[in-house]
Amino acid sequence: MKHYYRLVTEPDIFAGNEGEKVLSIAVIGCGRVFSTHADAIKKSSYAKLKAVVDIDETRADEMAEKYNCEKYTDYRDVLKRKDIDVVHICTPHHLHFQMSVDAMNSGKHVLLEKPVAISVNDAQKIIETAKVTGRSLGVCFQNRYNPTSVWIKQFLDSGRAGRIIGCRAFLTWSRDKDYYNSAQWRGTWSMEGGGILINQALHSIDLIQWFIGETDWLKASIDTRLLKGVIEVEDTAEMTIGFKNGVKCLFYASVCYTMNSPLFLELHCENAVITLHDDILVTYSDGKEEFIRNPDKTSGGVTYWGLSHEKLIEDYYSCLIAGKSFRIDGEQAIKSLKIVKAAYESSRTGKPIRF
Ligand SMILES: NC(=O)c1ccc[n+]([C@@H]2O[C@H](COP(=O)([O-])OP(=O)(O)OC[C@H]3O[C@@H](n4cnc5c(N)ncnc54)[C@H](O)[C@@H]3O)[C@@H](O)[C@H]2O)c1
Repeated sequence: MKHYYRLVTEPDIFAGNEGEKVLSIAVIGCGRVFSTHADAIKKSSYAKLKAVVDIDETRADEMAEKYNCEKYTDYRDVLKRKDIDVVHICTPHHLHFQMSVDAMNSGKHVLLEKPVAISVNDAQKIIETAKVTGRSLGVCFQNRYNPTSVWIKQFLDSGRAGRIIGCRAFLTWSRDKDYYNSAQWRGTWSMEGGGILINQALHSIDLIQWFIGETDWLKASIDTRLLKGVIEVEDTAEMTIGFKNGVKCLFYASVCYTMNSPLFLELHCENAVITLHDDILVTYSDGKEEFIRNPDKTSGGVTYWGLSHEKLIEDYYSCLIAGKSFRIDGEQAIKSLKIVKAAYESSRTGKPIRF
């Protein structure tokens, strides 16, 4: 028998701003992900978009006009503005380190796109800067806010599934020559910091470690199967991850598929198997099944990114205004980066890596 659940958004996120404080926001980087941020800011009662920055002046002009705010081409100029409270960083990966450190040292709170940085060392320095300056650092792992992710996390925490025993996950998306040629930083070790693992699959890796726990070891291999000559980095990767609680996870990711399929994730638990593939199917040991439909599936937007940027951004602002710490901080965000960097090292040396 199938049981259908209705999923609801966590109530505190969209409670709305009843106070007098409205945060002033600047966004650095007006590329592909920019409008997801700008639209969320526009809808928020907690914040107002005051400035956009892009080294491409035409792009900065267009977005400043569209969102009725000021434009800059040098991010350091916007950091000089006393009225800006929060800076969103939506730039290529290699710029995350300097921009976030500069922003926090200028007194701004930072909401940073993933990955936190392209090296663990830089990520640690970003975390240290947040501590020293007392600024809030949030990182965009919006898929933790997907209704299906929230449901799985709560279900696991409730103990109904029992202990997790194993996990398998597949992420098969499509990225072609035109995508990689659309910007100079894509597909490079020095600017993107890797391929599918550090970019497209990072959200899945974050979810896996969020559901399962602390990593112990991993063995991985990466390859460039279809995009040789187009990118330096991997288009395909696989890894076996061992967790401190004994769980083993098999993970495969590739951008060589013909479409962007939703993540397939299966958690084998003592009392049930939880299968996420857009919707959730829970199959209990006694054969009973529960089906949880993903309410975001039909809402439009870039569904394979997840539709939860707005929820994350709203939560980040409400935490700032309430003086609470934000749950996806640098310490949380560095976990998936450490896994990715270990995977690259394991593939290079052919050896397992211990954390
Ligand atoms: N969370 C998600 O689901 C998600 C989705 C897409 C992208 N992203 C992340 O967002 C970030 C940006 O990705 P994108 O796809 O929008 O990239 P993009 O190349 O489309 O846009 C980057 C923008 O930054 C600008 N830029 C470059 N150098 C700059 C500088 N020094 N100062 C100001 N602007 C500068 C570029 O001109 C460009 O407009 C990356 O970290 C990426 O991984 C996250």
